[in-house]
Amino acid sequence: MSITEQNPQSKILFKLLSFKDLGDKRGKLVVIEGNRDIPFDIARTFYIYGSDSTIVRGQHANRNSEFVLINVSGKSKVMVTDGTKKEIVELNKPMKGIYIPKMIWKEMYDFSQDSVLLCLANTHYDGSEYIRNFDEYLQIMKGEKK
Ligand code: TYD
Repeated sequence: MSITEQNPQSKILFKLLSFKDLGDKRGKLVVIEGNRDIPFDIARTFYIYGSDSTIVRGQHANRNSEFVLINVSGKSKVMVTDGTKKEIVELNKPMKGIYIPKMIWKEMYDFSQDSVLLCLANTHYDGSEYIRNFDEYLQIMKGEKK
C-alpha cells in the first residue's frame, strides 16, 4: 500500500490509497485487508450502483465512521470538505481508493453508467451518528454546537 497524504497540516480531508494489482495473465486481483491495506478494521461493506450523472449521494458527515471508497467499476467523483478546505477526487480504477476520516463532509456524484462504488467502513450502521444538514455540520465544526 502507498498512502499519499494530501493535507499534512491541520485536519486531513482524505488520503489517496493505491492498492497492489496481484493480477496475472488470467486477470486482475486486488486485495484489501483491514488494518493492513487501509487504516482500520472493516466492520461494514456496501456498494452503490445504478446512480447516474444527475445524482448526488452522501451529503453527510459521520461522527464515528471512517470510510474507504473504491470505484471497482466505472467512475465517480468525491468532494470532501471540513467547512474551510475542499477537495475533489475522481475515482476511476479498481486499484485506487480514498480514505475519508470521521467528521469530514462528503458528496459523491458524476457517476458513470457502469459505476460500482465500493464502500468500506470501520463501524456497523448507526443512523444517529450521521450529520445530514450542512449548516449543522458547519456549526459543529466551528464549535458552536455539539
Ligand atoms: P444513505 O446514507 O442516504 O446513502 P448514501 O450516503 O450512499 O447516499 O443511505 C440510504 C439508505 O440506506 C438509508 O435509509 C440508510 C440505509 N443504510 C443502511 O441501512 N446501512 C448502511 O450501511 C448505509 C450506508 C445505508
